[in-house]
Amino acid sequence: MLRRLHSEQPDSFAFTPANQAWAEAQITKYPEGRQASAVIPLLWRAQEQEGWVSKPAIEAIADMLGMAYIRVLEVASFYFMFQLQPTGSVAHVQICGTTSCMICGAEDLIAVCQEKIAEKPHTLSADGKFTWEEVECLGACTNAPMAQIGKDYYEDLTAEGFAKLLDDLAAGKVVAPGPQNGRYAAEPKAGLTSLTDFDSGKTQYNASVQLAMDIKDGVKRIQGDEVPLLTPWVGKDGVVAGRAAAGAPPKPPEAPKSAVKQAAEAKKDAAPAVEEKEPEVLKEARGGLPDDLKLLKGVGPKLEEKLNELGFFHFDQIAEWTEAEIAWVDARLQFKGRIERDGWIEQAKRLQVGDETEFAKRAKEEHIYDDKED
Ligand code: FES
Repeated sequence: MLRRLHSEQPDSFAFTPANQAWAEAQITKYPEGRQASAVIPLLWRAQEQEGWVSKPAIEAIADMLGMAYIRVLEVASFYFMFQLQPTGSVAHVQICGTTSCMICGAEDLIAVCQEKIAEKPHTLSADGKFTWEEVECLGACTNAPMAQIGKDYYEDLTAEGFAKLLDDLAAGKVVAPGPQNGRYAAEPKAGLTSLTDFDSGKTQYNASVQLAMDIKDGVKRIQGDEVPLLTPWVGKDGVVAGRAAAGAPPKPPEAPKSAVKQAAEAKKDAAPAVEEKEPEVLKEARGGLPDDLKLLKGVGPKLEEKLNELGFFHFDQIAEWTEAEIAWVDARLQFKGRIERDGWIEQAKRLQVGDETEFAKRAKEEHIYDDKED
């Protein structure tokens, strides 16, 4: 299938404030210069919010991550999980068409989609509520045939039951996901032959379906402020499913602090705040030949740019920083504490006299930073 941007695109894209905050938090998981690693989570959240990934969304995410637009488009168009065309306002239906489901009636389900939604996949239904596509095995083969609709699996489907299920979703009803033929989970259709004392009456549905029914947002688009999204195992009321009677779960005991952490905390408590002092800076690199500051472990292209902006171009400048000067530079960098944590001063001292650090050697050999932001 040809995967390209849809012919009709919205004018703009913006994360909701809660999704924006979530996206920014994702980016902080990665070290300086590696922010592009957040591209898939951000694209996925954009799709969860809008139903699909539009060109403005790709561009907005590229801007957030300092990536070229084409790089983000490459990711979005490579993975089939990203929808590059508008999806139904109620749901996008994914019918498994692989062996078990095919044998058990997937073609009948596809016929229902063609009749009730649209003749061709990835096409909006007349009322705009649904789209559909055939997908590869979704790993629920023992409950074939099945479909994923929104966030949930609907299993043991028949054409008639599936048609009614779509009607119910279109009418805004909450439909119980999971097996649709009375099975509890993936036990034999004829009933249990072993472990027969299994008490299936503990909850009305199996755990996955029970959670889906507690949350009741299987086809809802994500705004970012939903409690279960942040902690999927916790219900909307903030109580772990199945533990309502017992009240809130007890807090896990605090993990013992490592000796290093304890020492760091003690040092922090004991040490008075260092007064900042601006180091000597340069307007430009001496002789127009700056050192490659990316050879310092912990310095990526963005941080190198920042250091240059501040007036630092050479290893010997960094090697000379005093404690007060480190505090001055640290206060102007996005990630505090990394000068000491990554040992910039020691590295710079070695690099300024032509001695090579392990990291610098590897960076040169593997061109670690060469392809970051092209
Ligand atoms: S074949 Fe359909 S879920 Fe595996």
